[in-house]
Amino acid sequence: MEKVLELKNIVKRYGQVPVLKGVDFDLYAGEVHAIVGQNGAGKSTLMKILAGVITDYEGTEVLKGKPVRFRSAGEAQVHGIGMVHQELSVILKLSVAENLFIGTPGSKKTFVNWWEMENKARQLLKDFGLERINVKRPLGSYLLGIQQMIEIIRTIHSGAKIIIMDEPTSALSPPEVKRLFELIGRLKQAGTSIIFISHFLDDVLDIADRITVLRDGRKITTLENKDINKAELIRLMLGSSEGISENTEIELSASEKEPVLEIKDLSCRRLFRDVAFSVGKGEVVGLFGYMGAGHMELPRVLFGLEVPEKGRVILQGKEVKIKSPGHARSLGLAYAPESRKKALCLTKPIYANITLPFLATIGRFVNNRTRELEISRQLIERTALRPPKPLLNVGNLSGGNQQKVSVSRWLPTHPIVFILSEPTRGMDVGAKEEIINLVRDLKAQGMGIIVASSEPETIFALADRILVFSKGKIVHEFKQGKVNKELLFQYA
Ligand SMILES: Nc1ncnc2c1ncn2[C@@H]1O[C@H](COP(=O)(O)OP(=O)(O)OP(=O)(O)O)[C@@H](O)[C@H]1O
Ligand SMILES: [Mg+2]
Repeated sequence: MEKVLELKNIVKRYGQVPVLKGVDFDLYAGEVHAIVGQNGAGKSTLMKILAGVITDYEGTEVLKGKPVRFRSAGEAQVHGIGMVHQELSVILKLSVAENLFIGTPGSKKTFVNWWEMENKARQLLKDFGLERINVKRPLGSYLLGIQQMIEIIRTIHSGAKIIIMDEPTSALSPPEVKRLFELIGRLKQAGTSIIFISHFLDDVLDIADRITVLRDGRKITTLENKDINKAELIRLMLGSSEGISENTEIELSASEKEPVLEIKDLSCRRLFRDVAFSVGKGEVVGLFGYMGAGHMELPRVLFGLEVPEKGRVILQGKEVKIKSPGHARSLGLAYAPESRKKALCLTKPIYANITLPFLATIGRFVNNRTRELEISRQLIERTALRPPKPLLNVGNLSGGNQQKVSVSRWLPTHPIVFILSEPTRGMDVGAKEEIINLVRDLKAQGMGIIVASSEPETIFALADRILVFSKGKIVHEFKQGKVNKELLFQYA
């Protein structure tokens, strides 16, 4: 097979700290080459170098036999390299159509009129089975999964011959993942090369031709997919002999608990209807569903981000009308949404992000940095955040480490009910355990917890009870006995 790309001895430092320590990587025409590794291993950094986003590094890049050195992402695009970013590069204020065509080479010339652009956008979305999307609406009004699809479609449509996908499936539901994989198959046929980064090792083993393992800024190995299994892959990633078992089944035995939160006949636009359930003290209720099923939208209502048109919310026996996120916080609700980008201030230091909900609840914005740093250091230690530097901007953390900040910063506020959407999104197996243990601690302290997720593993690891959402309604409740993936998918 023809080698289209080679990266040789890539070194990247931040200040004195090396995060890539001499990495080699190569890519054939028409192959899917996966990169796996723990949070902070250097996967995104390596790919940002390839895509021209990071320009100060050492080492060489050879594209189709010729050495290249990109000075910008635009230059990489001109050379046929496109990237679907882990933190998405879509612009939420712009419409879906604008997001699809702006920033792709040649877009300025192609579209002079809006009508034509919107029609083209509709056609493109139809090809991807997304005809229900209104191309005129701002992309920010859609959930993360849709935003992710739009970024993928845009990159593919740009005509790139090398497409980097950094965690492309983390917000997609199984049918969408399937559609994406079919598409990747077609791209391969056409000779396009795909670099696929993911923490979903089943997906990686499903789709990759070759797999490169990074650990702590070094390349450990590159293997043919057929020569490896999941357990070995995990061992190579972690660098230890012990593996971590994933939950593919659980045994539930939920008992009646004193309710802290009761939801009665709640409906919100077309997002969900007649939803009713309660959350007990020290109980974790799992909300499972495919993207758009309503389970991810419900938390937004509970946190005052959407206004329900019908129904009641009762917190510790008292009916509440939640007007805004600030109001929700003051009532004792906490919410870690599925989108880190929306939740965090990426240009602010870690400590300021950590203390934001805390300062907001105590209603004081006093400048007590010593105290803020102290709170931050405790949380950083408790969650094993890397690097443990409270003054670093959150935007400089790896995706998984950002997620740790987004979840753990609610702890000092001692909420009554904690709502988490996709709490382990983008996390490696080790970091997942850390978050899972954290949630279990909170549960032991008597907090009521709602976990909304489209990943069965996350639900299985945490939930005492599982509510399955489908098309905006609760269609099934699991509270006793064995549950596995097949059962969940049957109802969803
Ligand atoms: N601007 C920066 N300043 C300092 N350190 C940085 C900066 N950007 C990234 N890093 C560090 O570089 C290391 C590699 O980060 P990278 O984002 O490449 O990890 P990753 O393998 O993509 O992880 P994840 O799976 O969590 O996305 C991390 O330790 C991260 O904190
Ligand atoms: Mg990353």
